[in-house]
Amino acid sequence: MSQGQPKPHRPKNVISDLQIFGGHPAFAEQLHVGRPNIGNRQRFAERVNAILDSKWLTNNGPYVDEFEQRIQELTGVKHCIAICNATIALEIVIRALGLEGEVIVPSFTFVATAHALQWQELTPVFCDIDPQTHTIDPNKIESLITPRTTGIIAVNLWGSSCNIARLEEIAAKHGLKLLFDSAHAFGCSYQGRMIGNFGNAEVFSFHATKFLNSSEGGAIVTNDDDLARAVRLMQNFGFTSYDQIACVGTNGKMTEISAAMGLTNLESMADFIEVNRRHRKQYAEELAGLSGVTLLPANEEEKSNYQYVVLEIDGATTVVTRDELMQILHHENVLARRYFYPGCHRMKPYSLSQLTLVETERVSDRVLSLPTGTSITPYDISTICGMIRLVVTNGRELSEKLRAERS
Ligand SMILES: Cc1ncc(COP(=O)(O)O)c(C=O)c1O
Repeated sequence: MSQGQPKPHRPKNVISDLQIFGGHPAFAEQLHVGRPNIGNRQRFAERVNAILDSKWLTNNGPYVDEFEQRIQELTGVKHCIAICNATIALEIVIRALGLEGEVIVPSFTFVATAHALQWQELTPVFCDIDPQTHTIDPNKIESLITPRTTGIIAVNLWGSSCNIARLEEIAAKHGLKLLFDSAHAFGCSYQGRMIGNFGNAEVFSFHATKFLNSSEGGAIVTNDDDLARAVRLMQNFGFTSYDQIACVGTNGKMTEISAAMGLTNLESMADFIEVNRRHRKQYAEELAGLSGVTLLPANEEEKSNYQYVVLEIDGATTVVTRDELMQILHHENVLARRYFYPGCHRMKPYSLSQLTLVETERVSDRVLSLPTGTSITPYDISTICGMIRLVVTNGRELSEKLRAERS
């Protein structure tokens, strides 16, 4: 796989070289956390031409059907229903599962997980996370269960998974539905079994920023025949035949062009994962030993898509804060992101209760996601790591300088 030519960059040796203090930006172009990985253009163009020839643009056409089959084969899940995006997929499966009242969900997630519940007029009840994995802490779930609780939505983050066994135990013990938002975990495994096979159902995202994209797109996967039938009805307005409607539904269909993009990218998926794996390894090597900077570990015993390179910045050690480091990198055209900040419980629509979630708040103040994927070269990574090293090793001086400029 070609990773493109190295982009022009300017190495930084002293802090006055940094753009924020008047130097030139390290990169001429912006580097993103997740720029779309794009497979074989020729194959995509052939598929698009076939779609245009057939004039079958949507309504569960042959490419959507093939995309669903490929996902079933890849995950070993009995049913896959391709959806226009993961947010609508979550909403559909929430309704199809009959969730109501309160649903327990981590606050440390992309806001779509909470929005999908609220949009269906359910109450998200925010749970704290395990600081090691950043996923919902099973030990904190049971105290949140009330007579109104009907389910748990856990989020498999960063190309890794939750403590699924414990979550399944808790859900079974309390008669709760268990759904996984696996937007980050396509192609990953838990205890040797592919993500997609757990709980009542799981949802994948194939948004352009995900390592495997269909431009916009998502999927609901489940081993439950009845649930799959209900989801299929709901994603197509509840139609059972030309003019028969069985239930309230919506329009959650994936288009043929999206499926063509998804299928084309699936053919290069192993390459995308390998690029991500190598990038992550390089970041780990080049940032090793840097005090106050920790790269979230990957579990090498499981399959991962290595989709995100997530740092934790311990400001007490680095002196320069996570936000200052991010600001410096942005000036260099490195668009590192503080995924996720703040936790959902601190966002305007959900912050009324003044809830405190200690680990969520601590982690969301420390995380910084770095650019990876096929648009990034090893040369870019060395430059980024060199700058992080320069900033952190001069943390005190740099932080004082920045604060003086601000005052
Ligand atoms: C954890 C999580 N859940 C849900 C979504 C929503 O996915 P989509 O953009 O496909 O609607 C995202 C997207 O970034 C996500 O990261």
